[in-house]
Amino acid sequence: KYLQEDELTQECRELISSLPAETGWVVDHLYQYQGFWHTSRELQGVLACQKHFQAQDSDILLVTTPKAGTTWLKAITFAIVNRLRYVDNPCNHPLLTNNPHELVPFIELKLYVDNQVPDLTTLTSPRLFATHLPFVSLPASVKDSSSACKLVYLCRNPKDIFVSLWHFTNKLRPEEKGTNSLEETFDKFCRGVSLYGPFWDHILGYWKASMEKPDRVFFLKYEELKEQPSLRLKMLAEFLGCPFSPAEEANGLVDDILKLCSFDNLSNLEVNRNGKMSSGEGYNAFFRRGVVGDWMNYLTPEMVGRLDQIIEQKLHGFGLKF
Ligand code: A3P
Repeated sequence: KYLQEDELTQECRELISSLPAETGWVVDHLYQYQGFWHTSRELQGVLACQKHFQAQDSDILLVTTPKAGTTWLKAITFAIVNRLRYVDNPCNHPLLTNNPHELVPFIELKLYVDNQVPDLTTLTSPRLFATHLPFVSLPASVKDSSSACKLVYLCRNPKDIFVSLWHFTNKLRPEEKGTNSLEETFDKFCRGVSLYGPFWDHILGYWKASMEKPDRVFFLKYEELKEQPSLRLKMLAEFLGCPFSPAEEANGLVDDILKLCSFDNLSNLEVNRNGKMSSGEGYNAFFRRGVVGDWMNYLTPEMVGRLDQIIEQKLHGFGLKF
């Protein structure tokens, strides 16, 4: 859904008129706020949650850039945190009938979108939220050094993110607009002009935060989760303060959660095949291939060279490799 300019709050309209703008990937423009690119509707949500969201110490905030595996992380974390409720009754698990985005809402894209201010005080703890916000733009109550809420950051090889985002945004484009060319969008991605981009600054913000405060920020890669799913799941549960007990492990709970949240299982559920978001887009847009290295099927050697160089220049110095 895209808001017409006159549907935005005056504060947002005024801000937008002062910000650098670029043509977006879908139909809207992108505006650069605090160093990162947002659509106007998203930006209004960013401003609202920066103003109103009050973190609690027991909160868990899942953070990703779009297409890093948000849907998967939401499912896994929801299943870890709520595992005691459904262990005796796995057929009633909410993930079987709800898309993960309904169970773990985005703060700026769902809870505070369109200038809403939801009452979140009645939610049971730990409250689970998600965001694509860069570290610099997080609400003050989250960043506050006295806050104890936990952040889980999931990133992914930027080449796979690009390919995934190119497919996803083309699905969201109105038919009459046609598809975006791979070359044009790739150039934008490399210049940092993509949803919540530049990707390198997004990753670095959380990488640095995880180095400074490893007890508050857990840094994870999609590829690691694919390669060593049980190990990473157990590490995540430990970080969240609810480690798997030896009895749970012996009973196969780790594997059960991984199976429940696997691409094959989630993408074949009725809700995810045919269900729709309130904005009308199908949940199936969040499930494409779910593999590592699909970029090899799309990028030319020149494109690979350009993106590899950016990754090396921006991230290798910090010890980050993809
Ligand atoms: P691909 O387009 O490469 O297939 P997000 O959830 O952040 O929007 O990211 C979507 C990407 O995660 C898509 O990648 C999608 O297929 C993949 N994905 C979705 N669910 C997944 C799951 N359960 N396991 C692994 N990957 C998943």
